[in-house]
Amino acid sequence: MNLAIFASGNGSNFSAIVEAIKQSKVKVKLVILVCDKPEAFVIKRAQKAKVQVILARREDFANRLDFERAIIHRLKSYSIDLIALAGFMRILSPTFVKQYRKRILNIHPSLLPAFKGAHAIKDALDYKASFTGVTVHFVDEKMDHGPVILQKQVKIRSSDTLASLEKRIHDLEHRLYPQAIKLFLAEKIKSRVKKVSVSTL
Ligand code: GAR
Repeated sequence: MNLAIFASGNGSNFSAIVEAIKQSKVKVKLVILVCDKPEAFVIKRAQKAKVQVILARREDFANRLDFERAIIHRLKSYSIDLIALAGFMRILSPTFVKQYRKRILNIHPSLLPAFKGAHAIKDALDYKASFTGVTVHFVDEKMDHGPVILQKQVKIRSSDTLASLEKRIHDLEHRLYPQAIKLFLAEKIKSRVKKVSVSTL
């Protein structure tokens, strides 16, 4: 199973997945990182982990369709089976989602459907919510939306600052994303086993 990670920023989830693969906790081949920001720290992480980087800058294309077409072309050339969005701050078009339906995962730092968007941790803190959390879900046509694979709560303490809450959320993300990929793979394996047993009867 060939995995591509899409990321735009720091890349701590990228590194958590790399580590889980290294420790054989997740049995996928991480083939490429797709990044849309040349200055993103995740590129350095990928280079260190010896993962091929595909830099796809939206500004280099006339429109979103051409931009995504170029990405899909590269995904096909690397025979990518599964895409994990890890802080990829772009909404994929319905055409893209259709091509990889039920094969694109996303991680989001809230208990979706609450606090969608780019500032979910701060939004939960500002709202004075008692709980927030982390969600890993399949991607559909809407932003931060689609069937949930794993979701876990994080309690918001009255003493929390943005930094302290971010730390607990990110720590949880780094455990949850590899687990969700593992679940995805187990489901795939299960359906393959089922098929094999039918054909051998
Ligand atoms: C993560 O907290 C992820 O949940 C969030 O971006 C961060 C990326 O961190 N994604 C979203 O908000 C998606 N709407 P990282 O670059 O250190 O992995």
